Formats: sequence, structure tokens, C-alpha cells
Amino acid sequence: MEVNWPERFYCRSFVRKIAQWREVSYFRATHPIPPGARVLEIGCGDGGGAGIFARRFAPSLYHGLDVDPAMVKVAAGRRQGPDWDNRLFVLGDAERLPYPDAAFDAVVNFGIIHHLPDWRRGVAEVARVLRPGGAFYFEEIYPPLYANPLFRIILAHPRENRFHGPEFRAALADEGLTLLPGFHESCLFILGVAIKTARP
Ligand SMILES: C[S@@+](CC[C@H](N)C(=O)[O-])C[C@H]1O[C@@H](n2cnc3c(N)ncnc32)[C@H](O)[C@@H]1O
Repeated sequence: MEVNWPERFYCRSFVRKIAQWREVSYFRATHPIPPGARVLEIGCGDGGGAGIFARRFAPSLYHGLDVDPAMVKVAAGRRQGPDWDNRLFVLGDAERLPYPDAAFDAVVNFGIIHHLPDWRRGVAEVARVLRPGGAFYFEEIYPPLYANPLFRIILAHPRENRFHGPEFRAALADEGLTLLPGFHESCLFILGVAIKTARP
């Protein structure tokens, strides 16, 4: 579902970009992929994450997909330059990715799977579009963070069928996504990299 204005404001803030910069540094230290990779970011928001990721990983192709036309427009309207030629921002639903199987070397998720009413389907779609050996780079948050009594009032998220760490990690394993050691997790969030090792 589309985010409301307070979350949109946060996602477009400098604070969010600093957090994403740190997360991409972690991704690179944990599982660097060679330059030239084909990358998909689900829920790309304003495209800020695309800029940070592309600068650190040098992909040959970077697709940012978001369900919100306003976000796609902002992302597509960012400052253009030679290094932006390979970036494409498209309107689409992370529960029904408009790509064939094994189309990408990496999929990036900066905290959007908890926005999906059918989040397991979102994880299954990530696994489907990754090639075997491809990497899923993710930051994801859990209900004690986004659905606590304060944020429940301020933010808009699906309320049914939510996941915490055990369910999220089990869904990764069910889809043949093997979590690499060294991931960071608390009751609030998880930051990790998973490799597509097998189709269940
Ligand atoms: C919390 S924001 C994160 C934006 C960006 N990834 C970031 O970290 O700043 C969640 C984003 O996911 C998008 N989103 C929500 N549901 C989606 C869906 N079903 N398919 C694709 N994008 C979706 C929203 O429009 C929003 O841009």
C-alpha cells in the first residue's frame, strides 16, 4: 500500500539517506557483487536508495519499482547524468513483479515488505526474479517499531497477517533464500543479505 505523508516525508529526508548509506556499506562488506550486475529495487520511493546503491555497486542496469505514481515521478525526475543512463523507474506492484524468472543478479529492499498485505508473496516474488546465486539485500522492520502505539496513529500499514523475525526468516528459507551469517537483528528490525541457493 502507498505510504502516507509523514512516512513519505521521512523517506525523502536526509536522515533516511544517511541510514541507507550505512546499510549499503554493510551490504557491500557482507556480499560484494561484481560491477555490471542487473539490480531491481522494490519500493524504490524517491530513488535516493538507487543513487546510493548504484554508486557503491556500479550495476549495468538498475530498475526501481514502486506502486506510488508520485514516488516514481520524483525518482525519475532526479538529476540526470551519464551514470543515471542505466536507471529506470517503473510503476508496479512488488506482489506481482512484471519480470520473468531469474531476471536479476540482485534485489534490494529498503523496508517495503512490511507494506505488503500479502508479504509472503512479496518474498516469493523476490526469489522468483533472482537468478540462482543472486543476492537479496534487505532492511526490514517489525511491528514493535512501525505498529507501536505512537507510530500506529502516525503511520499507515496493513494490520493483519504481520511478521516478526522468526516468520520473516522462515519465509526466506521457504523460498530458497539462505541468510548469510553476520546479519543484524533485534525485535525492531533486520538488516541482512540472503543468497538464492535453491528453488523449494
Ligand atoms: C517506507 S517507504 C520506503 C521507500 C524507500 N525504499 C526508502 O527506503 O526510502 C515504502 C515504499 O514502498 C512503496 N510500496 C508500498 N507498497 C508497495 C507495493 N505493493 N509495490 C511496490 N512498492 C510499494 C511505497 O510507495 C513507498 O515508496
